[in-house]
Amino acid sequence: MEKAGNALQIHRGKMLHFAKTTLNPSEHYSYIEDAILVTSNGIIEYFGEANDYLQQNQQYIDSEHISIEQHSGLIIPGLIDSHVHYPQVEIIASFGKQLLDWLNTYTFPAEQQFVNAAYARGQAEFFMNQLFAHGTTTASVYATVHPQSVNSFFDVAEAYNARMICGKVLMDRNCPEALRDTPESGYRDSKKLIERWHKQGRQLYAITPRFAPTSSEQQLAKAGQLANEHPDTYIQTHLSENPSEVQWINELFPEHSDYLAVYEAHDLVRDKALFGHGIHLTDREYIALSESGAAISFCPSSNLFLGSGLFNYQRAQANGVPIALASDVGGGTSLSMFANQADAYKVCQMQQTSLSPFESLYLCTQGAAHTMGIDHQVGNLNIGTEADFIELDLAATPMLAQRIQRSTNLSEQLFAINMLGDDRVIAKTYVAGQQVYQKGIELCGHSFTNG
Ligand code: GUN
Ligand code: ZN
Repeated sequence: MEKAGNALQIHRGKMLHFAKTTLNPSEHYSYIEDAILVTSNGIIEYFGEANDYLQQNQQYIDSEHISIEQHSGLIIPGLIDSHVHYPQVEIIASFGKQLLDWLNTYTFPAEQQFVNAAYARGQAEFFMNQLFAHGTTTASVYATVHPQSVNSFFDVAEAYNARMICGKVLMDRNCPEALRDTPESGYRDSKKLIERWHKQGRQLYAITPRFAPTSSEQQLAKAGQLANEHPDTYIQTHLSENPSEVQWINELFPEHSDYLAVYEAHDLVRDKALFGHGIHLTDREYIALSESGAAISFCPSSNLFLGSGLFNYQRAQANGVPIALASDVGGGTSLSMFANQADAYKVCQMQQTSLSPFESLYLCTQGAAHTMGIDHQVGNLNIGTEADFIELDLAATPMLAQRIQRSTNLSEQLFAINMLGDDRVIAKTYVAGQQVYQKGIELCGHSFTNG
């Protein structure tokens, strides 16, 4: 099943992507009914009309006996999840709490287990395979406070040659003793991890203060120092998710005008900073975010599940704040970026905005990649980018098959996939040209049974 990574591989079928950054994804998409995608050494060597390619290369293909893999489904770029917690996969779907109680009741106990590197390694493997089974090939991932949780994660990501962003959580107060670092140890451990992993192969590091309530001013200052010393690393944290959290910020940081100001005061608001949620923002915060180059991760299933509120997509967009979609598992209820597109649609509907299916797909492909500064590498099918792509099964369920059959155009089809899709629509997942997942089949020593 697995093929040699370096050999030329030719894929043929229906293909859809967004080649460029756009404010209007519903107009600026590229769909080819009979396309060819050629990969070699993990890179896309050709993407375009099958006829054009075959006219020029048929003789060579025949003489070299290269087989062309015909796909019956729809090929799109690998999906991007801009905010997810790998240590929380085991507490996904935990009942009845809002953010702060949910953290204390479920999240902090689960994260304490990651002091054990072998445990972390097992969970990292499970998580990575679940990402692939859900069609996600790049994610910005929170580990725990333990450096070994990051090493375990990157070890697994490296073994699959997957483009991943991850960071050690910084947390020195308002959490269990076992999950605390200090401003100095958090700085030192993060720096070591940056030196070991950032831009090592496809791995990227994110400086990760959990959120302002669990970091002292001294720790936020050390995080900002690190961010200045390593300007090409990511920063990821949470911002204005829940009303009680915002109230708590006002009590903890009375000298700052608002939540974002706490991060601004410590040099944590810049290009490549990804802020999870951003639901309860003031006008000033929207403007400051848009001027800074930072982005918001829109986490619809988490926001609904934890009762946090409705992200104002239209307002964030009107203010020019870059937005990428995210699952925020374990606050979110699915790793599927399709399930999260469905929830994003409903969150917008509640605010009289109808998010187009092209736009929501853009938010977890090219749009997310652009927001994260990696669209020259992933998020599209452009020649020269890394060969991360997935095949969707448009007949994954009888309901979807019937709905697709009734659809009269691509927009309707895509909308049906977005609303009804989850891991069942992922037929195959490729990372750097290598197949890492096939529905119902064991690959790389892992068994998948959701076929
Ligand atoms: N705020 C601080 N930590 C977390 C977390 O783990 N999940 C979510 N959803 N919000 C947070
Ligand atoms: Zn989160």
